[in-house]
Amino acid sequence: MTTIIHSVKDWILIRRSLKDQSLGFIPTMGALHAGHLELVKKSLSENTLTMVSVFVNPTQFNDPKDYEKYPIQVEQDIELLRGLGVNYVFLPQYSEIYADQYRYQVTEKELSHILCGAHRPGHFDGVLTVVLKLLNLVQAHRAYFGEKDFQQLSLIQGMVEAFFIPTQIIAHPTVREVDGLAMSSRNVRLSPEDRRKSVLFPKILKDATSCESARAELEYNGFIVDYIEERFGRRLGAVRLGDVRLIDNVQR
Ligand code: PAJ
Repeated sequence: MTTIIHSVKDWILIRRSLKDQSLGFIPTMGALHAGHLELVKKSLSENTLTMVSVFVNPTQFNDPKDYEKYPIQVEQDIELLRGLGVNYVFLPQYSEIYADQYRYQVTEKELSHILCGAHRPGHFDGVLTVVLKLLNLVQAHRAYFGEKDFQQLSLIQGMVEAFFIPTQIIAHPTVREVDGLAMSSRNVRLSPEDRRKSVLFPKILKDATSCESARAELEYNGFIVDYIEERFGRRLGAVRLGDVRLIDNVQR
């Protein structure tokens, strides 16, 4: 049975009643796709209970237009999670999560300023702050994050170590469409032509002989390139097609 939880207070009462059963947690912003669902399945296979949160976190959107256009399909998300047998779906309200009006924030001073952070000021402060709040509330044994957002994953791992958070962070490999595009809630906003073009992004990221040639090839094909860089033994990139921003990374 899937229990839908709308309020922090309700969850705290349920959490107290759980005792020692292992709890897995997947925080999301909804508009769930097969990539999210792989994380959920992993949690279901590794824990007695699984919770998924759906919360479109406004503090991590540096671009208000991106926030306004973020796809919302809560009913469909709930049905997908019900179908998988998820125990708890947490749909908190902004007013409860940010009762402090975002006066208290987690700030990381190095890694959050490079790559995506250099192009999205304040983005990772918003991510880290909401993830800390959610990890503290959920008190999970394990929390699952995707390697698609590699910089986010690294920052969350660092935060958990820095603040001695007892939840174990589990990384899941990037889940891709059959044509290679990394699954993302934003993909639905690509025009049919841009969707066709988008398959070049993972291909060029993987095959180019250098970051410079990857950038040149992507630009030649009509992508706006925010960055292509090698870090963490990976080549990471962010590009834009129209007003849709795509990120990806591949192992080197
Ligand atoms: P969201 O983009 O909804 O992603 C939720 C989780 O699913 C993240 O850990 C993300 O890395 C993972 N994910 C998304 N697409 C994936 C794919 N194609 N393959 C594997 N994993 C994938 O990331 C966020 O939400 C937010 O920043 C959040 C952590 C919830 C904080 O608000």
